[in-house]
Amino acid sequence: MRLSERVQRSIKGRSLWDILGLVGKNIIYPFYRLSPSLINARRRDQQFDLKFGTDTGGTVEYKALDIPIEKIGKGYRYQPSTGGMIARQLSALEIPFDDFMFIDYGSGKGRALLHASSWPFKEVIGVEISESLHKIACKNIGIYSNPEQACEKISSHCADVTEFEPPLLPLVCYFYNPFGAEIMQKVIQRLENSYNLKKRPIWVIYISPVHKNHILERPHWYMVNEGENYCIFMLKPEVFDAET
Ligand SMILES: C[S@@+](CC[C@H](N)C(=O)[O-])C[C@H]1O[C@@H](n2cnc3c(N)ncnc32)[C@H](O)[C@@H]1O
Repeated sequence: MRLSERVQRSIKGRSLWDILGLVGKNIIYPFYRLSPSLINARRRDQQFDLKFGTDTGGTVEYKALDIPIEKIGKGYRYQPSTGGMIARQLSALEIPFDDFMFIDYGSGKGRALLHASSWPFKEVIGVEISESLHKIACKNIGIYSNPEQACEKISSHCADVTEFEPPLLPLVCYFYNPFGAEIMQKVIQRLENSYNLKKRPIWVIYISPVHKNHILERPHWYMVNEGENYCIFMLKPEVFDAET
């Protein structure tokens, strides 16, 4: 297939933001993967699996996942968070962890769940649409035994995030660039609806935030913090309160 045809095929049906994200990713990613900090992070993560006997590593491209394309979006894949990513974000949160539930939207093999359980959350849960990845996550959760674990209640749920009803507890919602803009918008809408049912703190930690504009353009959210490759959002209680 000619290059122009391949380019046409890969941008067909994508929004402008998706295309810009894809271009950026393809230019920067090969260099980024070779950076010493990423090589060290990968080595630490391999050591994590060796130490705990878990299987959380590797990447699985969307074509190889047991997921219908419209449920994930073209170009997305399973790629685990690094332990460092989770630690940086959760250490910076000043919240009473034991009131909060941690939800990983698109939790894959459960790497982020295992790391998040080092914080004293009330509960840690993952939502993963791929049955094969969900099964691996369940096995990992069963095997995982770490004296540093502060939350014992960890689970993986096999479901499409757009159909997942967020529990009515204070939430820390974690996204590691898991899916396309359309799915992200539906999830954000669900979180808003859930807030309307019960007003409580809802945080969103978004890593590789390629669709952050879809959150920023909504009146109900504000960005608490932004750094290299991440954004943290919270719902604005006063906007909802004024509406209701
Ligand atoms: C980049 S991986 C992130 C894995 C994990 N959150 C972590 O940080 O280690 C994205 C995951 O989202 C899942 N996913 C994509 N679309 C989904 C959907 N509609 N519902 C649930 N999971 C989805 C993919 O199968 C994949 O495992």
